[in-house]
Amino acid sequence: MNLVLYRKYRPKTFAEIVGQEYIVKILTNAISSGMISHAYLFAGPRGTGKTTLGRLLAKALNCQNRKEGEYEPCNKCESCQEINKGNSIDLIEIDAASNRGIDEMRNLKEGIRFVPTKSKYKVFIIDECHMLTKEANNALLKTLEEPPAHAIFVLATTEIHKMIPTIISRCQTFDFRKLKIPEIIQRLEKILKKEKIEYEEPALFLIAREATGSIRDAESLLDKIISFSGKGKSIKKEVVGELLGNIETELIIQFMEYLSEKDVKKTVSFLNKSIDKGINLQQFIKALNNYLREILLLKIDSQFEDSLISSLTSEEKEKIKGFAKKLSSEEIHEILEKFMEAENKMKYSSIVQLPLELSIVEICSKKE
Ligand SMILES: Nc1ncnc2c1ncn2[C@@H]1O[C@H](COP(=O)(O)OP(=O)(O)O)[C@@H](O)[C@H]1O
Ligand SMILES: [Mg+2]
Ligand SMILES: [Zn+2]
Repeated sequence: MNLVLYRKYRPKTFAEIVGQEYIVKILTNAISSGMISHAYLFAGPRGTGKTTLGRLLAKALNCQNRKEGEYEPCNKCESCQEINKGNSIDLIEIDAASNRGIDEMRNLKEGIRFVPTKSKYKVFIIDECHMLTKEANNALLKTLEEPPAHAIFVLATTEIHKMIPTIISRCQTFDFRKLKIPEIIQRLEKILKKEKIEYEEPALFLIAREATGSIRDAESLLDKIISFSGKGKSIKKEVVGELLGNIETELIIQFMEYLSEKDVKKTVSFLNKSIDKGINLQQFIKALNNYLREILLLKIDSQFEDSLISSLTSEEKEKIKGFAKKLSSEEIHEILEKFMEAENKMKYSSIVQLPLELSIVEICSKKE
């Protein structure tokens, strides 16, 4: 059974939206005060709530039970239900990525001339708006210059820099942001509670980190993991990590612990044990070098902590700060040089781990 969580759990009220606080605030104020723009431009990364808020706006404006001064849709009246089911004739969604042609825009212009059938407003959501052809853009621009009183446009795009300025200038623009890891976790927790599925906290962390700011991606990943784990089974960190093909930061930390002690025996045997367990060495050394780079940057400026290692758990943060303290800049520099070299040589070595082992021996033989 495929749940398609991101559809099942599309927020039905503004209160359910995670993040995007200022956008929600301005939109809900506009709805409750009745001061609505005719054209909005929602710009930002995928899976951050653009389509969802476009639909919520349409639903709230056309809700038959909403009183003056309120902004939430009732989700019960005919209009709300039609929009929730996706068959409202007064909410028109156009995907510019698949309908790039001028015909679409011509239809749109025709459509606009008719007043809404049942509702107060006809709402047009034009997705991936930057994909429209030149002709379609011109048609849209004409429409935006003189929008009829009953029409509201929500243009959505992931690439605002590809949009023509004359269209942007006719819209009230909102910049959607990527969601933070704790925000994504909170959302996943809610869904799992509703689905009555148990979970290990660190498993959700891994999912949230992998989603890089997109709630939709996080929800799709969760979908996959649920079907992978089996119905009713709890979501385990190990399974998630395996599924994501993630090199566990833990592994790197342990490796670095031995290496920073310059314990050649422990470091090499840990490496070989990990290989026996099936780690992908290419991936491992790449992640390792990335980790070393973060240590180096931390060393240069502790301010890097916020931006660089924000995806680490607090425990992992303490560890990486520890390494930055323990190792000198010269040492980190030398290790990085050697490991980068090993990464290169590995591609041509008949014994894959040999270049890395050699560099470990070299690094550990240098006592300060
Ligand atoms: N800010 C958000 N708050 C809560 N859920 C969200 C948010 N953004 C995205 N989602 C989830 O992801 C799904 C897809 O979001 P959508 O609005 O279509 O993203 P896009 O920005 O790509 O249009 C939604 O159905 C919802 O489940
Ligand atoms: Mg969308
Ligand atoms: Zn309603």
